[in-house]
Amino acid sequence: MTSALAYADEQFDHFVSDLIALLRIPTVSTDPAYADDVARGAQWLADHLREIGVDHVEVVRTEGHPIVYAEHLPHDNRPTVLVYGHYDVQPPDPIDLWDSPPFEPTRKNGSLYARGACDDKGQMMMHVKALQSYLASGSVPPVNLKFLIEGEEECGSPSLAPFIKTHQEKLDADVVAISDTAMFAEDTPSITYGLRGLAYVQVELTGPNRDLHSGIYGGAVHNPANVLSQLIADLHDDDHRITVEGFYDDVIPLTEEERETFAALPFDEEGWLGEVGLDDARTEAGYSVKEAISARPTLDVNGLWSGYQGEGAKTVLPAKAGAKISCRLVPGQDPKDIAQKLQRHVEAHVPETITLTFTELHGGQPVLVDTSHPAMQAAADAIAAVFDQEPVFTREGGSIPIVAEFQRLLGLDSVLMGFGLNSDAIHSPNERFGLDRYAKGIQSIIRFQQAYAEMG
Ligand code: BES
Ligand code: ZN
Repeated sequence: MTSALAYADEQFDHFVSDLIALLRIPTVSTDPAYADDVARGAQWLADHLREIGVDHVEVVRTEGHPIVYAEHLPHDNRPTVLVYGHYDVQPPDPIDLWDSPPFEPTRKNGSLYARGACDDKGQMMMHVKALQSYLASGSVPPVNLKFLIEGEEECGSPSLAPFIKTHQEKLDADVVAISDTAMFAEDTPSITYGLRGLAYVQVELTGPNRDLHSGIYGGAVHNPANVLSQLIADLHDDDHRITVEGFYDDVIPLTEEERETFAALPFDEEGWLGEVGLDDARTEAGYSVKEAISARPTLDVNGLWSGYQGEGAKTVLPAKAGAKISCRLVPGQDPKDIAQKLQRHVEAHVPETITLTFTELHGGQPVLVDTSHPAMQAAADAIAAVFDQEPVFTREGGSIPIVAEFQRLLGLDSVLMGFGLNSDAIHSPNERFGLDRYAKGIQSIIRFQQAYAEMG
């Protein structure tokens, strides 16, 4: 391990260059216009894994974007770690808010700026670089490794669950290792033991058969934009609780012990607000900000359209209005069930004067992992050695839907050792990854593999 750590240190600039090469490929999975680039990204990754000496590498075609699968299994009697990550990225829009082009990685103030720098190319590559450090420094990696890197995480992983279902034996392992989450704070490394799920729907309302002059028709035509606004406004009550019938029925409440642990975490609420330009938070009554953003369910409008959006005024009574609405879900809740409850609620509240089209876009299960798994302790020890600080165990509000599928289909728990920060601006303009964390992440993973091997 010592020589692998030294190698990672010496070769760090090359490790950054390799990441830059991958970041140059615009692997935007949700937009079909980028399909060839996504395929090129998969190929680049597979070639790179072969170059660093991984035994077996394949690019698996799917109905959507390819999956990169690789394995390096030098041991008969050591544990196997299944590394999961994703090489696809979110769209870069709005592009004019970037200070440097999203697919021309730029090094500035100790960070690398590019779409995917943190989510998840930078974090995924740390696992590749950890293995490279073992191989290139002439040592055998201490554990068996399988890599499952998908190109559809940012659009709901439609091809991955079917692949897992049909390749259970191939994917057999002792634990999954994932770096696609955030640290609690810059000086507080963390291991995430819970993620929220997601139910994502689209609501479209249609009134008249065309946009109308609001003077000629206004007053006697039910305006779908007005109806949609009312509908959305009524989805929360004054306590900021969600009014959809049965929405909270299956929520597994936070235990007293968990609430105490949450309260004891060094969460900097003012800093958290200040970083996004807010003075006050708005949470469900009775819950702290930290609880509300990681362990309570939500309902938010993610997109909203109707009427005239251009400069100046246009007196129009729009024919249509629409919204994209997503709910973050917590353990106990089921995405299908919540989408149905939401549909029933919307159907019951849209007046007869308006036609409703309700579409489920995608969903993902929430998850809690078993913190008593030996790999958790190995990860905690490794991270503590590198950061000189014990990691805290937290739950996070984002979603990685496949984590629940690893549990359900393979019986595997995941160690979520993330090295992102909220200030890395994932999904936003000027996404970045602090290179100090790229380095520390690689060192942590090298140590994690050794510590886990020693634990058996
Ligand atoms: N890396 C994120 C998930 C994440 C972010 C977890 C921050 C914890 C903290 C992941 O790539 C992501 O963005 N997932 C999507 C999933 C969705 C498209 C199904 C999400 O959470 O919106
Ligand atoms: Zn993401």
